[in-house]
Amino acid sequence: MEPFDLSDGTVLLRTPGAEDVDAIVAACQDPDIQEWTTVPTPYRYEHAVGFVHDVVAGGWGTGSPTWAIREVADGERLVGMIGLTAQPVRSAEIGWWLVPDARGRGLMGRSVELVVTAAFGRLGLDRIEWRAFAGNESSRAVAERAGFTVEGCIRGGAVTGDTRRDDWVGTLLTTDRR
Ligand SMILES: CC(C)(COP(=O)(O)OP(=O)(O)OC[C@H]1O[C@@H](n2cnc3c(N)ncnc32)[C@H](O)[C@@H]1OP(=O)(O)O)[C@@H](O)C(=O)NCCC(=O)NCCS
Repeated sequence: MEPFDLSDGTVLLRTPGAEDVDAIVAACQDPDIQEWTTVPTPYRYEHAVGFVHDVVAGGWGTGSPTWAIREVADGERLVGMIGLTAQPVRSAEIGWWLVPDARGRGLMGRSVELVVTAAFGRLGLDRIEWRAFAGNESSRAVAERAGFTVEGCIRGGAVTGDTRRDDWVGTLLTTDRR
């Protein structure tokens, strides 16, 4: 699959490239992104280089697209990231983060809507899974507003480094009312 953009006029989702490495490094210093996502800690320049060149560039060819979230009204500044990780049989796990000054304005809700619509449309998926470390109420609120059903908590279901954490899991199916 070739990279493609998504936009609703407020956010522009475009795959991140080498020119975005500095912005990604800066964003991933945020304590909340380090606490609630699986980005390496401490997050260094080479992590962003590897992310862009390996995870992002390789992902589009294997059904795992990643988009940088850009705020149109702010010169298309990179304010976040959202992506799908392919799972067997027309399913994928969705993941996301926003920089702190972009939160609380509905930008992630808009981005999730664009990605879910593309996933169930041109990508041909019929199931999207959301996972978050238990207690991540802001991510859960975004997921529930987007129509995900939170189904429960997998005890010890997430591993970061040598730490095991409880994992909330939810799903959105094409057949769900949105
Ligand atoms: C999870 C995360 C992306 C949520 O960000 P967010 O700003 O709450 O999400 P949104 O951009 O959709 O904003 C929603 C909020 O904006 C408000 N809002 C303002 N204008 C809005 C609009 N036009 N449309 C929708 N919501 C709007 C909503 O009321 C909502 O506020 P509330 O949560 O107080 O009810 C963010 O907290 C984050 O990056 N956290 C760290 C990383 C992380 O946890 N990632 C997820 C791992 S599973």
